[in-house]
Amino acid sequence: MKPVIRISELDEGQMCAHTVEGVDVLICQVEGNFYALHNQCSHARQKLSQGRLRGFEVICPLHGARFDVRSGEVTSAPAARPVTSFPVTLEGGKVHVTLKQVDQPARPQFGPLN
Ligand code: FES
Repeated sequence: MKPVIRISELDEGQMCAHTVEGVDVLICQVEGNFYALHNQCSHARQKLSQGRLRGFEVICPLHGARFDVRSGEVTSAPAARPVTSFPVTLEGGKVHVTLKQVDQPARPQFGPLN
């Protein structure tokens, strides 16, 4: 469990990105609760922190996939796999994130089709 930000640093409906022990983590506050996801779209590795937060959904800026910040589950294509979500604890006025193994999306394939 690692302290990442002070609770007062993030307003309702906002998100921010921080690197925690080498892992890029997206922190969101929605309806007074904090959530943490791996800050990388499972479709083509775009940083979700560059997208938008709409209610409980974070929208990828590259192709528009949506993920539920509560679980990391996909709520709209083109992504097909969830992003890793991390448990969050509020303690001592800070947002703590418990890191776990990150599911790395497959590297996107480009080039001629065989
Ligand atoms: S990289 Fe996120 S939807 Fe394509």
